[in-house]
Amino acid sequence: MDPGAVMEAARAAAKGAYAPYSAFHVGAAVLTGGGTIYSGANVENASYGLSICAERNAVAKMATSDPEDRQVELVAVFSPNTSPCFPCGACRQVLSEFGCKEVIVETDRGLKRYPFDQILPNSFGAEDL
Ligand code: THU
Repeated sequence: MDPGAVMEAARAAAKGAYAPYSAFHVGAAVLTGGGTIYSGANVENASYGLSICAERNAVAKMATSDPEDRQVELVAVFSPNTSPCFPCGACRQVLSEFGCKEVIVETDRGLKRYPFDQILPNSFGAEDL
């Protein structure tokens, strides 16, 4: 799968952001081991702390769509507000749960790819319980 196609899904998803409080729009797309792309956008709330990031919405779609295909090969993140836009700490932890291997962001020089252990080193996971 072309990582550019995953970033295109993230870019399209950002158009669906509900961000009336921050006006910061984010789209994210995950590519699964089975080759499916799931995307999501951030959804804010008047009770600010209840806002959900784009990455976690994409992961929630993935995790509830096909129990047999929950491996995140990579995630692409896009924001029209800033570039590059990296996943927040909470989203890094959630992506880690599903074995995310790589993070792709957009820069003014094109796509940049990061191995996930560079994004979240020394992560805590199921193997630590
Ligand atoms: N946000 C995301 O959706 N993903 C990120 O990676 C960073 C932040 C959202 C949360 C909130 O709706 C807005 O961006 C501003 O923080």
